[in-house]
Amino acid sequence: MRIVVTGANGQLGQAVMRQFDGHHELYPLGHADIELSEARTADTIAALRPHVIVHAGAMTNVDGCARDPDAAYAANALGSRWVAQAAVRSNARMVYISTNEVFDGTATTPYGEFDRANPINAYARSKYAGEQAARELVDRLYVVRVAWLFGGTRNFLRTVLRLSSEQSSLRMVDDEIGSPTHAGDVAAALGQLLTTDAYGTYHFVNQGSCSRYELAATVLAAAGRATVTLEPMKLAEFVRPSRVPLYTALNNYVGAAQGIVFRPWQDAANAFVHSIIEGHA
Ligand SMILES: NC(=O)c1ccc[n+]([C@@H]2O[C@H](COP(=O)([O-])OP(=O)(O)OC[C@H]3O[C@@H](n4cnc5c(N)ncnc54)[C@H](OP(=O)(O)O)[C@@H]3O)[C@@H](O)[C@H]2O)c1
Repeated sequence: MRIVVTGANGQLGQAVMRQFDGHHELYPLGHADIELSEARTADTIAALRPHVIVHAGAMTNVDGCARDPDAAYAANALGSRWVAQAAVRSNARMVYISTNEVFDGTATTPYGEFDRANPINAYARSKYAGEQAARELVDRLYVVRVAWLFGGTRNFLRTVLRLSSEQSSLRMVDDEIGSPTHAGDVAAALGQLLTTDAYGTYHFVNQGSCSRYELAATVLAAAGRATVTLEPMKLAEFVRPSRVPLYTALNNYVGAAQGIVFRPWQDAANAFVHSIIEGHA
């Protein structure tokens, strides 16, 4: 298959490229190749005559989106519309990568694919608008929501490792809950999903959920840095431009019903930390 990947140099884009490399004809599009907010992005993608478009590109700086919501909408909402138009013009299937942040965080049990989205910040509103733009135009569409990604060079787990080598004590938020997810596991699951024509909305996350504090504790234990002290703090103590939904654990209900099952987040996090320590991540 000819597969176009947007955001190909990003954390998930890289994992998707690794997953499909050698099996498909790949067209990686980074920010240097396309500007999502520009209408001609539809022409650039359609000219490649893709069978599948994996749309992983997005303005992902949540606080940056809060400071400049117009830029967030241009990249994430309008940009997704151009990508969706390219899918229609080339009769391609489309995978729209979305986010746990489409939910408002008021739940107390993990959000399933049938729960109602209610985004509360500019990033999330623009990403949800991107979902809607894709739904409006593309029949053969998979909307795949992911969360708290790690696996690349910039993520929370790497930050914890770096800080713990510089400081003997770290403060971590214990009231923000999510589903940490290995980008490589998402890429493998996308490989499975694309063998089906089971279109619709999915929550592709590693099993389980935790607070940032628990995730940091797991990283420190896996790295053998148990001497570093962890102190809990509340999200409200952080002054940030963007509102953060407190609880966004996701449940992979639909994917699991089709046999697409993820390992527990602890196993994925341990594996990632060990791959960093062993020098192959
Ligand atoms: N990371 C997470 O924890 C997380 C959680 C939930 C959902 N997601 C979603 O998962 C997807 C992948 O995330 P990720 O972590 O891989 O993000 P990432 O590492 O920031 O990658 C996103 C890529 O998109 C590119 N990009 C940004 N603005 C663009 C524009 N206007 N035109 C063209 N390309 C642009 C970026 O290029 P530059 O860096 O060169 O600008 C970057 O390579 C995104 O859709 C994101 O919303 C991520």
